[in-house]
Amino acid sequence: MNFEYTEEQIMAQQSARDLAQREFILDVIERDTNCIFPEKHVKKLAELGFLGMQVDPEYDGTGMDTISYVLALEEISKVDSSLGVIMSVNNSLVAWEIQEYGTEEQKEKFLKPLARGEKIGAFLLSEPEAGSDATMQRTTAIDKGDHYLVNGVKNWITNGNSAGTYVVIAQTDPEKGHKGINALIVDRHSEGISLGQHEDKMGMRSSDTHSVMFTDVKVPKENRIGEDGFGFKLAMKTLEGGRLGIAAQALGLASGAYELALKYAQERKAFGKEIIKHQAIAFKLADMATEIEAMRFLCLKAAWLKDNKQPYGTASAMAKLYCAETAMKITTEAVQIFGGYGYVKEYHVERLMRDAKLTQIYEGTSEIQKIVISRAISSL
Ligand code: CAA
Repeated sequence: MNFEYTEEQIMAQQSARDLAQREFILDVIERDTNCIFPEKHVKKLAELGFLGMQVDPEYDGTGMDTISYVLALEEISKVDSSLGVIMSVNNSLVAWEIQEYGTEEQKEKFLKPLARGEKIGAFLLSEPEAGSDATMQRTTAIDKGDHYLVNGVKNWITNGNSAGTYVVIAQTDPEKGHKGINALIVDRHSEGISLGQHEDKMGMRSSDTHSVMFTDVKVPKENRIGEDGFGFKLAMKTLEGGRLGIAAQALGLASGAYELALKYAQERKAFGKEIIKHQAIAFKLADMATEIEAMRFLCLKAAWLKDNKQPYGTASAMAKLYCAETAMKITTEAVQIFGGYGYVKEYHVERLMRDAKLTQIYEGTSEIQKIVISRAISSL
């Protein structure tokens, strides 16, 4: 077992850290308060190759491994997890599945602009009545010979407005259940697509979240990813990588909150000494540091399995479950260490706590991760 990072992994971590600490930090509170999409920061992520981190250089990506991806996502999410989720959805939920299962034409047409960050991607699985129960797709993609006709509503779509490329999961043959579902690449500006209002969320407020309505949207047949009826399995496989991205994001939220709380505890005095010298605070920080190590190891193990072409779905569900739950706990403790200051925006930790809540919900709630894990361990 080797606990050392490669030079490339350190470089990815360092350049993400520099970018986040130097630039993204400057307007993060304003963007959170006013729900401002971080357009210029997304461009910067694109310029430095973070939006196509795992895309092969042949398709204009940076071709890095999953460990580098986890390290970079942690650093970005420490400062701004809205940027973390934009980066994660583009890489894990959209670019990955086109690279893995797309045709050569789809890679040329859709993957390259995603990898260059000229267009960003969105993954449209959830519906008003199909959240956790994802096989219950009501959006239809009716086979019309040379094209599909798409009708329906998708909910909670990250990058819903800002994306140029959607991957839409829809039901072609309801009689076949999940085996009648397809995944289609759809141009966001196609005729018949309209957006619901921007969701005014508790956290991750500068990432845009919308519902998306489809009314007789024509999608060319050649935009289907994989065989007819492969859409649900493709979505599930895609979420294995997506969940690791969210685990890394939760790791960033926790380590960001911990670093701020540690510094504050070393400076703030109460009862005649720095508060870190009070055992009540020191023990909280000791727990946080230990739990962050455990979070990181779970993420790196899942990343290593993926890089080594071994099954990683259970490891990524475990990473997501533990990291999301622990991020909620650690960010809450960070607010507690800051006391009254923690409850106001200026000190960042309240935002990290609000953001952490979403990691327990999206890309499969913690309860869904327990379903995935318990099914895997019961079949061993
Ligand atoms: N890889 C490949 N195939 C898989 C798979 C995987 N990881 N998981 C399941 N499948 C296959 C099964 O083998 C089965 O196929 P067969 O019938 O041929 O055997 C088929 O898919 C159906 O699987 P299940 O019977 O297990 O289906 P289920 O109804 O019991 O549901 C579930 C399983 C795990 C609960 C699933 O519905 C699920 O993951 N739900 C949560 C959905 C989710 O994560 N949504 C997040 C939305 S995306 C998002 O949040 C993005 C964003 O913007 C940030």
